[in-house]
Amino acid sequence: MPHDFMPGLAGVPAARSTISDVNGETGVLEYRGIRIEELTAKSTFLETAYLLLFNCLPTRLELEKFTGDVALHRRIKFKIVDMIKSLPEQGHPMDALQAAVAALGMFYPGRTVQDPENNYWSAVRLIAKLPTIVAAFARIRRGDEYVAPRDDFEFSENFLYMLSERRPDPIVCQIFDACLILHAEHTMNASTFCGLITASTLADPYTVVASAIGALKGPLHGGANEEVLAMLREIGTIQGVRSYLEAKLKAKQPLMGFGHRVYKVKDPRAVILQQLAQKLFTHCGKSPLYALAEETERVALELLSQKRVYPNVDFYSGIVYDAMGIPTDTFTSIFAMARAAGWLAHWLEQMKENKLYRPDQIYEGEHNRSYLPLDQRQ
Ligand code: ACO
Repeated sequence: MPHDFMPGLAGVPAARSTISDVNGETGVLEYRGIRIEELTAKSTFLETAYLLLFNCLPTRLELEKFTGDVALHRRIKFKIVDMIKSLPEQGHPMDALQAAVAALGMFYPGRTVQDPENNYWSAVRLIAKLPTIVAAFARIRRGDEYVAPRDDFEFSENFLYMLSERRPDPIVCQIFDACLILHAEHTMNASTFCGLITASTLADPYTVVASAIGALKGPLHGGANEEVLAMLREIGTIQGVRSYLEAKLKAKQPLMGFGHRVYKVKDPRAVILQQLAQKLFTHCGKSPLYALAEETERVALELLSQKRVYPNVDFYSGIVYDAMGIPTDTFTSIFAMARAAGWLAHWLEQMKENKLYRPDQIYEGEHNRSYLPLDQRQ
């Protein structure tokens, strides 16, 4: 059956889904029909994860059970900690996370993905354990001891505690939690699709999430948040913004944290992240990077708005995490911790009506070539 080839599968539907929806023209993002503006103002990351996974807001009792289940599964086996200790300190945290998540599956070998009970516990374990792995690698690589999770702390509070070994400021926890909500899901993006391809073979959910982590790492996707900070540091001063951006565009290099396949307006997540950044700076003092970012956005819009290229989710998230004292190369792992909720929601949805992904290609090579023996080749 011949089809038009769509580079990057742009505009090609890969699934039917009820999990989230983006309107790229109006800048609206909804999770299960609820706008992200409302969720970041009123919900928590774990409640939003429940909404994504099970298609309803939990009752008080359901939320207590889910929160309790996640809290009880935060610990990781000492062998996973030992494995993390054996990884090179200068290695990228996303590689450590991918390796540790793949290894997790070896400890929980329930291979059938058709059992709803088993699938529930796999989703709980993954959402619970990813932050522990991220914090463990961040500490161990700088020579500090691994800090065990506290099951009496809220989700974000516990993560920030495991990173610093100090009980974090409640306002910082609330802002961080809202960031996790914003990163939890985003329709059929590259990492979700990658996870679903793996899931379509009926691979276990640890392998599904490990695949998705690999796809998220790249600088055109989740890795852009780290690149944004590198770009702002390279720009250095407000006066240097215009010449830097013009040189980049002249060299046909993308501005990191700008542009999106779907959004043709400013990403609504970037709008909320900017508000969260302002709230954080009012509370903890301004970051010099924020003024630089605002000027970068202003000049970039002048240079790029004709192409409808605007800031995306990655543009302001790094500035928020940086102001919280989180190392730059850990930003994408935090994205993964949050996006695990979306990946797992898509996985559960696909398991209800799975079909192996096996797309087609347009073959442009030769046919009927003869095999030339090695001694006759030029
Ligand atoms: N900087 C400069 N120009 C850009 C940018 C950018 N960041 N993004 C798009 N454009 C321009 C392109 O050069 C192209 O111009 P042309 O028509 O004159 O050739 C036009 O806008 C269309 O861009 P495409 O590359 O065709 O758009 P596509 O949908 O393939 O790319 C992508 C989307 C990869 C995200 C791109 O915008 C990009 O590279 N951005 C920078 C990396 C980034 O921030 N990634 C994070 C995305 S959000 C996320 O994944 C979580």
